[in-house]
Amino acid sequence: MTTEGELMALFKKKKQLDSSSMKNGVGLITVTKPTSTIAEQFRTIRTNIQFSSADQQLKTLVFTSADPSEGKSTISSNVAVTWADQGNKVLLIDGDLRRPTVARSFRVSNSHGLTTILTAKQANLSESIHETEVPNLYVLPSGPVPPNPSELLNSSKMDQLLKVLKEQFDIIILDVPPVNTVTDAQILASKVDGVILVVPQGIALKGAVLRARDLLKKVNANLIGAVLNRVTDAASGGYYGGYYGGYYGTDDKK
Ligand SMILES: Nc1ncnc2c1ncn2[C@@H]1O[C@H](COP(=O)(O)OP(=O)(O)OP(=O)(O)O)[C@@H](O)[C@H]1O
Ligand SMILES: [Mg+2]
Repeated sequence: MTTEGELMALFKKKKQLDSSSMKNGVGLITVTKPTSTIAEQFRTIRTNIQFSSADQQLKTLVFTSADPSEGKSTISSNVAVTWADQGNKVLLIDGDLRRPTVARSFRVSNSHGLTTILTAKQANLSESIHETEVPNLYVLPSGPVPPNPSELLNSSKMDQLLKVLKEQFDIIILDVPPVNTVTDAQILASKVDGVILVVPQGIALKGAVLRARDLLKKVNANLIGAVLNRVTDAASGGYYGGYYGGYYGTDDKK
């Protein structure tokens, strides 16, 4: 039997907005401890994404989640590292123009980035795209945070940019804002080959996840699966446990 108290405790589990990754970047365990079990789990996520659509080439991928602070940046950055480790030329784009982390995570300048490319008359990609210490991995940080993120992302310039970048990189990973709070994720999800939803198991509310799925379906996004993530407070021994489950696919009628 579930008492009302127990039920409410579930809701109390809902995470508060965590801004530490905006200040310090995300933990790159795939770089610092590449032989760890956690790094291996990120490689499993990559492999499962690769095998999720054998007949369709996935060149551009969006990582999003229903709500903020659910692990999008941590997972997309580490998965990008594992893709580069395989010898692919990878570009990680910070498409989260509201809570960017990529510049901090990879310690590159954020004075130029996606926003400066999208607002410039003549875009200069080389001043915005940085090589990282990980061979084959390049990053395009957000650039200075603009007043109109959705408009910028919805522009034809963004389409052109992705087209050009697809010719230069083997795989492009976009870290984007949560689906349920702003339209940015829907906009970018509609422009890429595949979308992965990060779901913090035991923390995400079912209704929120279903709403995110519906919003992505509305823009005909190719939702290829979900990464189950467990986000706990660092104080309680932060447990990283991600694995990729091919559910919430576009053929899921539930
Ligand atoms: N599996 C995990 N285990 C423990 N801590 C985690 C895990 N995943 C993420 N975190 C922590 O949770 C916080 C939020 O993670 P992250 O910044 O990756 O989320 P986000 O979804 O990108 O957030 P935002 O909505 O701000 O962009 C960070 O402090 C990060 O270190
Ligand atoms: Mg983030």
